[in-house]
Amino acid sequence: MPRYAHVTGWGMAVPELILTNADLAKMVETTDEWIVERTGIRERHLADKHESTATLAVQAAQRALERTEIRPRDLELIIVATSSPEHIFPATASIVQDRLGARTAGAFDLSAACTGFIFAVNMAAQAIRSGALENALVIGAETLSRIVNWDDRSTCILFGDGAGAFVLQASEKPGGVLSCVMRSDGSGADLLSVPAGGSRIPTSIETVRGKLHGIHMNGREVFRFATRVMASATHEAVEQAGLHLDDVELVVPHQANLRIIEAAARGLRLPLSRFMINIERYGNTSTASIPMAVAEAVEAGRVHPGDHLVLVGFGAGLTWGALTLQWVAPERPVPTRRRRLSLLRSVFARVRSSLRRVVRWLEGLLWGAAARRRTGDDSEG
Ligand code: ACO
Repeated sequence: MPRYAHVTGWGMAVPELILTNADLAKMVETTDEWIVERTGIRERHLADKHESTATLAVQAAQRALERTEIRPRDLELIIVATSSPEHIFPATASIVQDRLGARTAGAFDLSAACTGFIFAVNMAAQAIRSGALENALVIGAETLSRIVNWDDRSTCILFGDGAGAFVLQASEKPGGVLSCVMRSDGSGADLLSVPAGGSRIPTSIETVRGKLHGIHMNGREVFRFATRVMASATHEAVEQAGLHLDDVELVVPHQANLRIIEAAARGLRLPLSRFMINIERYGNTSTASIPMAVAEAVEAGRVHPGDHLVLVGFGAGLTWGALTLQWVAPERPVPTRRRRLSLLRSVFARVRSSLRRVVRWLEGLLWGAAARRRTGDDSEG
């Protein structure tokens, strides 16, 4: 019996704080007109000091889970796609796993910049279709505001913070993830990077002074690359799924620049009305942008059961990819009972996490005492 990987839950989260183009014009030499004309962005959301990639990821995940019957403790896999993780290690996904109370889930991060969410959904879908897993939670989450160079007007105007999540579940009914194209070209690695802080250029006073921990980008080259690959990856993914572009109701592109989306539409000979666009309100939220746009498209009534979607993205690496998806889940309001349960579960998860820390501390004490006794016995013997 063939197995399919359906998207049964979806959710998004953005910080409350909004930074408008007018606000930016007070920080660097730019104008609202320039930003809107060159990028389509009007405002973006920024994390405050209490928020981080994991807090946004957890909120989006909880909203996605509320749409399903799955409890966090039923989850088998959590993948967080991100380029702005909480730490170099542990993985942000481990922190999310703990905060959700997903006690039996394996959790890891996936780093493929803005294409990360597409790659992660494909990996989870493959595992589900193979029979290895029954479900998975895939999250795209970023707080790029933490790694943006706020003095560089060519990059700081572009990025925003946010998170989006999908719950994937096994099903015998056809639908869900149908095909995926994953591509990389590391010869363009230097076009978009955070140069320092890794093993190549470790952190030092010089790297901090030289602002090498912020985003460095050759905007024109990235633009050229993006306009080339968006249409070709879409064509390939649609063909791989045995479909034609006419069968695709909605294209959900990575929200990097409105002009890139317009170029992709021209390349595909599709009207812009077949594209989901929300860049004006969020800017480029990197790997979070596609699941956020899907969540808003469903909420806006633009996605119906049976519809075919193409998710298409590109980013640092260079990476790019496209995924075709047949939507199966009806848009229904989330019952209040599930919202309350979700809140209760998050409280229990925190209590459980604290208890585990206490138990680990006690175990450490006992283990230390036993080890000291053993050493004492050995030296007496
Ligand atoms: N305000 C005013 N002027 C500006 C600004 C600004 N914010 N930024 C740059 N300029 C100036 C430049 O200095 C330049 O001036 P000059 O001609 O005197 O040198 C002029 O505007 C034109 O600069 P360009 O770089 O040619 O502008 P362009 O039209 O290419 O737009 C942009 C720049 C918006 C960055 C564009 O190249 C772009 O969107 N590139 C793709 C970026 C992208 O998608 N990155 C994300 C990838 S996803 C990921 O992995 C995170």
